[in-house]
Amino acid sequence: MPKQSQLDELNKKMSACSACVLRGTCHQVVPGEGSAEAEIMFIGEGPGKKEDELGRPFVGSAGKFLDEMLGVINLKRENVYIANVVKCRPPQNRDPLPQEAATCWPWLLEQIKIIQPKLIVTLGRHSMERFLPGKIISQMHGTLVIKTIPEIGKQNFYTLYHPAAALYNGSMRETLIKDFQKIPKVLEKINLS
Ligand code: URA
Repeated sequence: MPKQSQLDELNKKMSACSACVLRGTCHQVVPGEGSAEAEIMFIGEGPGKKEDELGRPFVGSAGKFLDEMLGVINLKRENVYIANVVKCRPPQNRDPLPQEAATCWPWLLEQIKIIQPKLIVTLGRHSMERFLPGKIISQMHGTLVIKTIPEIGKQNFYTLYHPAAALYNGSMRETLIKDFQKIPKVLEKINLS
């Protein structure tokens, strides 16, 4: 089955999920969006207010910033895939609880298994923590890590600060932009290996 049809089916199942309490307080499930054939998959933390309203990931101020940075490396959101660790908005934008992230984990794994991205870019420490537990984001950002995840196999990871955290923090913003600009070189390195 084409990847897009597989994602469509998965999205339908995700939209009917009520496996954790978050579904009780959000408006709708935000599965993710972008190209099923994407080489790069960006993974954020969870939907915010705007995302919850529109059913799309990264459409608020952090999303605008993400779009800008994608533009700098000549990409559009349609060229990549954008998803989150949890698919339902945590109330008051609180951090997802470990239990909620764990409950939502199989959905994310299914997305990755279908898309098979060359590179997973984690946005923020909660996303990094799912794949690289125990690592410290101030040490990990901007570096390529190759790791085998039992359910998905060998995978390339690149850690970034979260656009929402960096938006109003001058030095973190600068670091994020610099790290982001390295993505094409990181992909090149992966393609050559
Ligand atoms: N922050 C996230 O982590 N994900 C979104 O979709 C929006 C903001």
